[in-house]
Amino acid sequence: MREKGANSPPPFHQWFHRPSSAVPWRFGVLSALVFVGMLVVWSIDGCTVSGLLDAWRFKQDYGSVKVETSNSDLSSDPHQNQTVTHQGSTSNDATSRLPVDLSNNVTQVSVDSNGGSDAGGSVGESPQKEEKNASNASRLPVGLSNNLSQVSVNSNYSSDSGGSVGESSQKGEKNASNTSRLPVDLLNGVTRVLDNSSYSSDSGGSVAESPQKEGKNVVDGVVSDWVSSQLEPDFTANLLARWLAPGGEPCRDSRTEEISIPGIDGRGAIELPAGAVHEFDFAALDGAGNSRCLGGDHFETDLSGDSWKSRPLVKDFSNGSYSVSLQVHPDFVGNYNLTIILLYRHFEGLKFSPGRFVFDRELRKVLIRFYKSEAKLPELHLCGKSDFSKDVWVGRWTRHGKNDDCQIGNDGHYRCLPPDYKCQSPWCDGSLGLLESNGWVYSAHCSFKIFWSDAAWNCLKGRWIFFWGDSNHVDTIRNMLNFILDLPEIRSVPRRFDMNFSNPKDPAQSVRITSIFNGHWNGTQNYEGLNSLKNEGFRSLLKNYFSEDTVPDTIIMNSGLHDGVKWTNVRAFSVGAQYATSFWAEVMEGVRQRGLAVPRILYRTTVATGGYARALAFNPNKMEAYNGVVIDKFRQAGLISGVIDNFDLTYPWHFDNRCNDGVHYGRAPAKMKWRDGGIGHQYFVDLMLAHVLLNALCAR
Ligand SMILES: *[C@@H]1O[C@H](CO)[C@@H](O)[C@H](O)[C@H]1NC(C)=O
Ligand SMILES: *[C@@H]1O[C@H](CO)[C@@H](O)[C@H](O)[C@H]1NC(C)=O
Ligand SMILES: *[C@@H]1O[C@H](CO)[C@@H](O)[C@H](O)[C@H]1NC(C)=O
Ligand SMILES: *[C@@H]1O[C@H](CO)[C@@H](O)[C@H](O)[C@H]1NC(C)=O
Ligand SMILES: *[C@@H]1O[C@H](CO)[C@@H](O)[C@H](O)[C@H]1NC(C)=O
Ligand SMILES: *[C@@H]1O[C@H](CO)[C@@H](O)[C@H](O)[C@H]1NC(C)=O
Ligand SMILES: *[C@@H]1O[C@H](CO)[C@@H](O)[C@H](O)[C@H]1NC(C)=O
Ligand SMILES: *[C@@H]1O[C@H](CO)[C@@H](O)[C@H](O)[C@H]1NC(C)=O
Ligand SMILES: *[C@@H]1O[C@H](CO)[C@@H](O)[C@H](O)[C@H]1NC(C)=O
Ligand SMILES: *[C@@H]1O[C@H](CO)[C@@H](O)[C@H](O)[C@H]1NC(C)=O
Ligand SMILES: *[C@@H]1O[C@H](CO)[C@@H](O)[C@H](O)[C@H]1NC(C)=O
Ligand SMILES: *[C@@H]1O[C@H](CO)[C@@H](O)[C@H](O)[C@H]1NC(C)=O
Repeated sequence: MREKGANSPPPFHQWFHRPSSAVPWRFGVLSALVFVGMLVVWSIDGCTVSGLLDAWRFKQDYGSVKVETSNSDLSSDPHQNQTVTHQGSTSNDATSRLPVDLSNNVTQVSVDSNGGSDAGGSVGESPQKEEKNASNASRLPVGLSNNLSQVSVNSNYSSDSGGSVGESSQKGEKNASNTSRLPVDLLNGVTRVLDNSSYSSDSGGSVAESPQKEGKNVVDGVVSDWVSSQLEPDFTANLLARWLAPGGEPCRDSRTEEISIPGIDGRGAIELPAGAVHEFDFAALDGAGNSRCLGGDHFETDLSGDSWKSRPLVKDFSNGSYSVSLQVHPDFVGNYNLTIILLYRHFEGLKFSPGRFVFDRELRKVLIRFYKSEAKLPELHLCGKSDFSKDVWVGRWTRHGKNDDCQIGNDGHYRCLPPDYKCQSPWCDGSLGLLESNGWVYSAHCSFKIFWSDAAWNCLKGRWIFFWGDSNHVDTIRNMLNFILDLPEIRSVPRRFDMNFSNPKDPAQSVRITSIFNGHWNGTQNYEGLNSLKNEGFRSLLKNYFSEDTVPDTIIMNSGLHDGVKWTNVRAFSVGAQYATSFWAEVMEGVRQRGLAVPRILYRTTVATGGYARALAFNPNKMEAYNGVVIDKFRQAGLISGVIDNFDLTYPWHFDNRCNDGVHYGRAPAKMKWRDGGIGHQYFVDLMLAHVLLNALCAR
C-alpha cells in the first residue's frame, strides 16, 4: 500500500486559528452578538485552568481507545486494560451528586405536584383524587383497547391526564373534561394524534378548543405516516442565533431542572394505540417549578420494548416548550419504557469543555403500553438511491429473532442465529444472521438489504471508493472486509491507505478502496478534525487522488469526533466547515473541468458517543449539531449526493458502553475485557452501518 504525500512537512500556518480575524463573515446581522458570545464563551470555556485540564483529560481518554497510528499499532487491542477510568466516573459523579430526586418516580412526581417539583406554579391547584390512583391506569380493560372507536373516545379522555382509566370506560370518559377539573396547563399536552394535519391545532392551550376533533379523527383504517424530521433550512445560522439568544429575564436566565409533560405526568402507566404518532408537549421548568422561555436543552430520549428501540423525535420550540413524538409500528404492540434524560441545559453540550456542565439526569421513565389499532403505516420499501437524499433519519432497531442462550465465541463473535436466518420483510432483506446481532436490525424511512459477499462483490467490482473521516471509518472498512467481503485475514487497515482488494472466490473482481483519516494532517496525530485541511501537504495528498486519469466514483466522508475537541465553539466550527466545503467544492470542480464523472459524495454522520463519552467534548449534543452544520454547508454548495445518518443508527445503543468503547462502535470482536467491564462487546451496530453503506453504494 502506498501513502501519498504522507511525508510532506506540515507547516503550521495559523489558519483561522483565532476565528475573530479575517474570517469571511456569513452572518452579518448576528455579528455583534456573535462577537459578544465568543468573548463570553472564551472566558468561561477556553481559557480557564480547569477548562484546559478537562481538555487534557478527555484527550487522554480518547487517546486510550483511539486507533493507534503506525501500521504495527493498528491491531492494537481495544480490550486492553483501560487506563483511564476517571472519565467514566465523571458522569457518574455528576449523577450521584444530584440530590435524590423525585423525578425518578414518575407517579410520585405527579402526586406531589402541588409541592412544586413537577409542574410548578401552574399546578398550584390540588391534583384531583383520581390522580392518586394514577398507577391504576395500567389496568385498562383489554377489550377497550382493541376497539378503535372507543379508543378515540379514550383519547379525549386521555387528554385530561386524570387517573383512573381502568375505573370506568364509559361514564368517566364522556365526562372526562368535566370531571378532570385540571388546571388548564395540564391540558396543553393532549395526545396529539397527527394522522391529519388538522390535529396539530390540538396543541393549543385551551381545553374547549379541540377534544372533539381529536376523537373524531381517529377512524378505522386510518393510514398514519411515519414520524420524520428534516434539517431545518439555514440550520447553522439558526443554531447560532438560538445559541446566542440573550437572557435578561428570569425565565431566560434560569436553568432547567425538571420538565412537565401534561399528557403523561400523573397518569401512571399509559396506553397508546400503535401506528399513530403521539406528540406530547412538554415544558422545561427551573428548580422552583417556573417555566423557562428559552430552548436549547438537550434531552436524550429512548423508547424501548422487547423488540423495538428508537429515539423519539424531540422538537425544541425555542421558548421553553418542547415536544416528543412517540410512534410504534402496529406489529410491535406491547410494553415500552419511555425514558427522557436531560443531558445538557441550554446548549451547554456545545461548550469546549462540557464535562463541567453535564446534567445527565433521568427525568422520566414511563411505562407505555402500545396496543393494536386499525391504524396502518405505509410499508417500508428497500432503500433506493433517492432515499439517501434525506438529511435526518428517524429510524428504529427492531428485533426478529432471539437466542437467549447465545454465548460469546472464543473469537469474540456472537453467532446467535444461523448465518442464513432470514430477514423479516419489510424490516430488512437478506440474511439477518449475518449481522451477528441476535436478531436486531436497523431500518429508517426505508429498509436495508443485508449483503451476502457475492452481491457485495458484484456491486463493488471495478469501483473506487474513497473514505475521508474519523477512526470509525477504519473500523467500518475492516468490518466490511472481514464480515462481508470474505476477507477475514485482514486484521486491520491503517489510517491512511490506498489498496485493491480482490474477491477470494473470483479474483477477477476487485475494488479499490482509499481511506484518509481526517483527524489530523499528520497521520500519527489527532484532534485537528476539519482543521487538518489548513495543512497544504494534507490538501495535496487529498487532491492527488482526484488528479489521476480515473477518480473515485464515490466519496464517503464525515467530519468526525476530532472536531468536537478542536473547535472552541460552534461558530468556529462552522467556519472550519465552510472551509472544508470550499475545499471539496474546488476538488470536485477540478474533476468536472477535466471532463470526468464527478464522484458522488455520501455524507456519513458522526456517531452518537456512548456511556461516559456523553460527558466529553464530542458528546451527542455537540456532534448532532456539528453533523447538521456540515450537512447544511455541503448542501448549500451542492456537494452532497446522499446522507447516511449514522448518528440515528448508533443512537439507541449509545446510553452505555456495551456496543461502543465510548467513541467506536466497530472494534473487532474479541473475547476480552471490554470498556464496561464485561467480557466481549457488541459490534453489530457498526456492521449494520457497513451494510447501510453498501445499500447507498449499490442503490439504483
Ligand atoms: C507526525 O508527527 C510525529 C510526532 O507525533 C512526528 O514525529 C512526525 O515527524 C510527523 N510527521 C510528519 C510527516 O510531519
Ligand atoms: C489487565 O487486567 C487484568 C485483570 O482485570 C490483569 O490480570 C492484567 O494483568 C491486566 N493487564 C495489564 C496489562 O495491566
Ligand atoms: C415510587 O412509586 C412507587 C409506586 O409507584 C412507590 O411504591 C415507591 O415508594 C416510590 N418510590 C419513591 C422513591 O418515591
Ligand atoms: C388501584 O385502585 C384501587 C381502588 O380503585 C386501590 O384499592 C388500589 O390501591 C389502587 N392500586 C394502586 C397501585 O394504586
Ligand atoms: C384511589 O385509591 C384509593 C386507595 O388506593 C381508594 O381508596 C380510592 O377509592 C381510589 N379512588 C378512586 C377514584 O378509584
Ligand atoms: C366498538 O365500539 C363501538 C362503540 O363505541 C361499537 O359500536 C362497536 O361495535 C365496537 N366494535 C367492536 C369490534 O367491539
Ligand atoms: C370529548 O369531550 C367533549 C367535552 O369536552 C365532549 O363534548 C365530546 O363529546 C367528547 N368527545 C367524545 C368523542 O367523546
Ligand atoms: C356524565 O356522566 C353522567 C353520569 O355520571 C351522565 O349522566 C352524563 O350524561 C354524562 N355527561 C356527558 C356529557 O356525557
Ligand atoms: C360539563 O361541562 C359543561 C360546560 O363546561 C357543562 O355544560 C356540562 O353540563 C358538564 N357536564 C357534566 C356532566 O358535568
Ligand atoms: C384525516 O385523514 C383521513 C385520511 O388520511 C381523511 O380521510 C380525513 O378526511 C382527514 N380528516 C381531516 C379532518 O382532515
Ligand atoms: C412555544 O412555541 C410554540 C410553537 O411556536 C407554541 O405553539 C407554544 O404555544 C409556545 N409556548 C409558549 C409557552 O409560548
Ligand atoms: C422498563 O425498565 C425496567 C427497569 O428500568 C425494566 O425492568 C423493564 O423490563 C423495562 N420494560 C421494557 C418493556 O423494556
